[in-house]
Amino acid sequence: MACSRIGVVLLCSLFASTLGVPQTFSVDYKNDCFRKDGEEFRYISGSIHYNRIPRAYWKDRLLKMYMAGLNTIQTYVPWNFHEPSPDRYNFSGDRDLEHFLQLAQDIGLLVVLRPGPYICGEWDMGGLPAWLLHKKDIVLRTSDTDYIAAVDKWMGTLLPMLKPFLYQNGGPIITVQVENEYGSYFACDYNYLRHLTSLFRSHLGNDVVLFTTDGAGAGYLKCGTLQGVYATVDFGPGGNVSAAFDAQRQAEPHGPLVNSEFYTGWLDHWGEHHSTVSTAIVAKSLNEILAIGASVNLYMFIGGTNFGYWNGANTPYAPQPTSYDYDAPLTEAGDLTDKYFAIQDVIKLYRKIPEGPVLPSTPKYAYGAVPMKKLHTVVDALDILSFSGPVKSIYPLTFIEMNQPFGFVLYQTKLPVDCSKPTPLSSPLNGVHDRAYVSVDGVAAGILERDKALTINVTGKAGSQVDILVENMGRVNYGKDINDFKGLVSNLTLGADILTGWEVYSLSIDQAVSQGLLWEMGSRVAGTPPPSPLSVPSFYGGTFVIPDGIPDLPQDTYIQFPDWRKGQVWINGFNLGRYWPARGPQITLYVPASILSTAVPNNVTVLELEGDPCTPGPCTVEFTNTPVLNATVKSDHKHQRALFHKEDLL
Ligand SMILES: *[C@@H]1O[C@H](CO)[C@@H](O)[C@H](O)[C@H]1NC(C)=O
Ligand SMILES: *[C@@H]1O[C@H](CO)[C@@H](O)[C@H](O)[C@H]1NC(C)=O
Ligand SMILES: *[C@@H]1O[C@H](CO)[C@@H](O)[C@H](O)[C@H]1NC(C)=O
Ligand SMILES: *[C@@H]1O[C@H](CO)[C@@H](O)[C@H](O)[C@H]1NC(C)=O
Ligand SMILES: *[C@@H]1O[C@H](CO)[C@@H](O)[C@H](O)[C@H]1NC(C)=O
Ligand SMILES: *[C@@H]1O[C@H](CO)[C@@H](O)[C@H](O)[C@H]1NC(C)=O
Repeated sequence: MACSRIGVVLLCSLFASTLGVPQTFSVDYKNDCFRKDGEEFRYISGSIHYNRIPRAYWKDRLLKMYMAGLNTIQTYVPWNFHEPSPDRYNFSGDRDLEHFLQLAQDIGLLVVLRPGPYICGEWDMGGLPAWLLHKKDIVLRTSDTDYIAAVDKWMGTLLPMLKPFLYQNGGPIITVQVENEYGSYFACDYNYLRHLTSLFRSHLGNDVVLFTTDGAGAGYLKCGTLQGVYATVDFGPGGNVSAAFDAQRQAEPHGPLVNSEFYTGWLDHWGEHHSTVSTAIVAKSLNEILAIGASVNLYMFIGGTNFGYWNGANTPYAPQPTSYDYDAPLTEAGDLTDKYFAIQDVIKLYRKIPEGPVLPSTPKYAYGAVPMKKLHTVVDALDILSFSGPVKSIYPLTFIEMNQPFGFVLYQTKLPVDCSKPTPLSSPLNGVHDRAYVSVDGVAAGILERDKALTINVTGKAGSQVDILVENMGRVNYGKDINDFKGLVSNLTLGADILTGWEVYSLSIDQAVSQGLLWEMGSRVAGTPPPSPLSVPSFYGGTFVIPDGIPDLPQDTYIQFPDWRKGQVWINGFNLGRYWPARGPQITLYVPASILSTAVPNNVTVLELEGDPCTPGPCTVEFTNTPVLNATVKSDHKHQRALFHKEDLL
């Protein structure tokens, strides 16, 4: 039975001795350990988020984790990645969770699964689908009936799919987390946790080990733990390991010690310095954790990339950049680091690690500079970006009201009065979510930004066209503000009056880019605008050919944007993510070889929101072989947080 569904060949050879005997995994409260097939067991795990790594590289990364000496991996399952709109599920290609689990098992890794429904994870809205916000006053992560109905449906799809992958059913999954750090959330709704627990049990059975994870402090554990669900903690290196586990012992007097998130590095925000954590401190604390026999998960073992629009944000509003490198032991691109080998050295002291060479870092290639040319402004391209045309509304509509979860929405209106003198255009309630590029009669007038810039001055005649392109920079993923509506979520004022009479355009930019529409429509740029410090949001395009006669191309590369300011970039229709060298600290974006073509020219499409490097020109993007994630931050917002205290994010 164990082999009926998955991993027939490997499973049967690996576990031949246990065939016929059912596999078991449980918490042994008497001996303070896990018990796997009757034997005392502890896991040494690393976090890898399949949703942040192209499928073509899953095996490479998992093999490297296996060779480091890990016996287990941990992953989240982001709900919004798999159910982009209600009842439309996607488990294929880069979202093929079953394939990922199968690969892990084939390689010999067990899995600690964290299916949420909320995951935090520096991921848009903490993994919750934005369409939940169609109910305006929904109370997420509670017993709110609409929230629960959506969760029940999602889990009713996900969990039955995962059931065959449970260890006791012959699969790799040893434990399953319920919710995520629920004790850090304001609601403290035990009925919600109880509901999730019985939901998980009804789909997965009573044998599966369910657990919770919370900060290592009584305050967090209070609302995060539940009788019958094994309580674990998370904490970073550099502190007092036994004191941290004392917190777990208070919630869970017996059973294995478990640190579910031992931080190997830390996250970044645009406009703050790149976070790094010393290898020596990580190795020292890891050694202490393993010495007392605890199970541990290294968060992250490989961070990967927030491709597309998937990054989250903290508050006061601070979105995370495209790279989720995390200063982890494997880089964003899967490269081996000193931290990797230092961790391997520590693990060796406690566990026999696999013999043989570690897979090398994948080679990187500098394809060089690619000339770019201006294609169109966003406003000029409206008829191909917005098939259905505008929705008219007296007051502005949100992204959700427009039924558009991600990207950009255009708001158009007219100046109701002459503004011959500079007149303040304001968002008095801080309702620009998150950044608005304002132009009057096609000339850039300024930028409004959530929590940072609530007023600009505009000038123009009555009747002048006002275009406001609003960018969703990523939904808040942590804390009480996760109901993060996007777009113009409150009225704008001009002088003392509320602006009205909007035409709101939902924009299908990704679709237009991947269908090559922006290239086909030919350039309609009228004349050359004079160079100015600020330009209207516009598309740019360029192509490059992978050179012949060099073995092993295409290889991975990094793209950088000399003289560009902020925007979004696609290669061959694949949305690589946001670039923002004008703010930093991330300068280069990781480009996996799997999206490049050797057969035909590769297409680079850029939506630049602020500056126009191609006027007067020439302008290029550049492909280099070296990542830069730690440039000096060019912002007045320079505070750097002390490491590892979740409360600092509150
Ligand atoms: C499902 O996700 C994959 C990977 O992101 C994508 O290539 C594919 O187009 C998606 N399928 C649908 C039907 O949206
Ligand atoms: C660490 O915490 C424990 C209590 O769990 C305490 O006994 C010990 O003295 C602490 N060690 C240091 C170095 O502070
Ligand atoms: C707008 O213009 C007024 C008058 O010229 C000036 O005092 C004010 O600082 C300007 N505000 C901004 C945000 O530029
Ligand atoms: C805009 O203002 C009007 C009139 O005060 C109000 O009814 C409406 O709710 C406001 N809209 C938003 C999105 O704040
Ligand atoms: C680049 O775009 C051209 C024109 O749309 C298309 O023929 C070609 O296949 C694209 N290249 C790739 C690698 O997708
Ligand atoms: C960025 O990191 C590189 C490589 O570790 C290092 O050489 C460089 O000095 C760092 N730059 C800054 C500005 O910190």
